[in-house]
Amino acid sequence: MTGLLLRSGCDVVDVARLAGAIARRPGLVDRVFTAREVADARRGGVSPGSATEHARLAARFAAKEATRKALGDLRLPFTAVEVRTDPDGAPRLHVRGEPTGWSVSLSHDAGVALAFVVGFDPAPVPTAP
Ligand SMILES: CC(C)(COP(=O)(O)OP(=O)(O)OC[C@H]1O[C@@H](n2cnc3c(N)ncnc32)[C@H](O)[C@@H]1OP(=O)(O)O)[C@@H](O)C(=O)NCCC(=O)NCCS
Repeated sequence: MTGLLLRSGCDVVDVARLAGAIARRPGLVDRVFTAREVADARRGGVSPGSATEHARLAARFAAKEATRKALGDLRLPFTAVEVRTDPDGAPRLHVRGEPTGWSVSLSHDAGVALAFVVGFDPAPVPTAP
């Protein structure tokens, strides 16, 4: 018998901690986030450097860590994981430029950002008879 392995990953990020790191190292944003993610974080008239931008970036950072956990690849480069935002605001997970078909959910409130990723492993795995 074979089965599909369900994989999941989650992560939380302290928004102020990420904002502080960005303030200390302005190049950090370009090393960690894609241009599309930065644009998504500013959608709806959100200002660069604002609390909302930082919260959205923190959620996307959490998504990158959650994806690393779900894939079991803790060395996956940050920019290889990209959260793209649909017109209705829903996040979509891409890895190395390709849609994953995996589900990602983001939330940010009270100074904390959270991401949860879940999806089936593409390779069928053996299961016990
Ligand atoms: C979308 C909604 C669930 C977000 O919940 P919230 O408690 O306000 O905010 P949270 O911090 O928990 O979640 C924010 C994340 O929800 C996600 N999100 C937004 N729209 C979504 C949707 N349609 N489907 C799935 N996820 C969505 C985004 O990833 C967003 O993160 P981002 O701003 O960094 O991109 C909530 O605003 C809602 O129910 N809206 C109903 C429709 C509405 O009012 N739309 C207003 C737009 S005009």
